[in-house]
Amino acid sequence: MAKEKTGNLNRRQFIQTSGLAMAGMPFLSLASQKPESRIAKDSPETSFEFSFLTDIHLKPEMNAPLGFQMAIDKVNELNSDFAIMGGDLVYDVMRGDYERSDMLFDLYQKMSRGFNMPVYNCVGNHDLFAIYPESPEDANHPDYKYGMWERYFGKTYYSFDHKGWHFIVLNSLDVTEDKKYKGVFHAEQLEWLAEDLKNTDQSTPIVVTTHIPMLSTHWQLKGQNGAVGVENSAEVIRMLENHNLKLILQGHIHWKEYGMVNDRFDFITGGSIAGNGWKGRRHNTKEGFVQIKVQGENYSWEYIDHGWEAERLRLQL
Ligand SMILES: [Fe+2]
Repeated sequence: MAKEKTGNLNRRQFIQTSGLAMAGMPFLSLASQKPESRIAKDSPETSFEFSFLTDIHLKPEMNAPLGFQMAIDKVNELNSDFAIMGGDLVYDVMRGDYERSDMLFDLYQKMSRGFNMPVYNCVGNHDLFAIYPESPEDANHPDYKYGMWERYFGKTYYSFDHKGWHFIVLNSLDVTEDKKYKGVFHAEQLEWLAEDLKNTDQSTPIVVTTHIPMLSTHWQLKGQNGAVGVENSAEVIRMLENHNLKLILQGHIHWKEYGMVNDRFDFITGGSIAGNGWKGRRHNTKEGFVQIKVQGENYSWEYIDHGWEAERLRLQL
């Protein structure tokens, strides 16, 4: 079975990629293997599930803590091995003062201790402290930009391994001279990534997490040419060319999307926990998260409704 496609993205989709990376086949070459020759290497040691939750936008208002707690409870119920958070953990420290911003991260950190498994955080644009002119603080503050994040969660880019798979969490953000965020992988991180990949076997399955999408249909459909993407994502794709990239997980646009590239790797934009600022769906994407089940070299995914929409509507009554 090569791929089982369904018209309903809430159903589990079975993904089996070709393993062409192991044959050293670049992404941009035409895949020549016949689907039936793709033999999966399943083993109990590489069977696990993990959850990808993105765009939580946590704040004390709008019943956001209740909605986040429902997502935490659902992940615990699913008994995932770990959770990856796709960024925009809080809303919002870009424009905020120190007290409010610190309180938001503190709230997030305390609540995320409710997960029964390790949590790996990715940084989002709303998590960058005092980068906008509206903030009373500026670049002189020790918590500026990545500082507050680093104080709470450590490095903004890193990798970890789980049951033979390699997970790379990237920082897709920097700040422009006129004080706006932009989607970019900065040079220092690319140096680190080159080193990380040097130490990763070419056959090891890789999952990349980025807040700002590296690939998306969003800008073609919405007409915002490149505005919501990482400007140098092609550079990272090139670096991964001769590795066994399986999947890119993305956030930011609160949009649910799956794509497959040339029989080699897939990308999923994982909806959001917050919807439209906790007021309802955004882009008509229901609040939820992505559950990923890995078996050997393959994985399947499903968008999980943790019940927040029904609860939100009930609370509005
Ligand atoms: Fe967001």
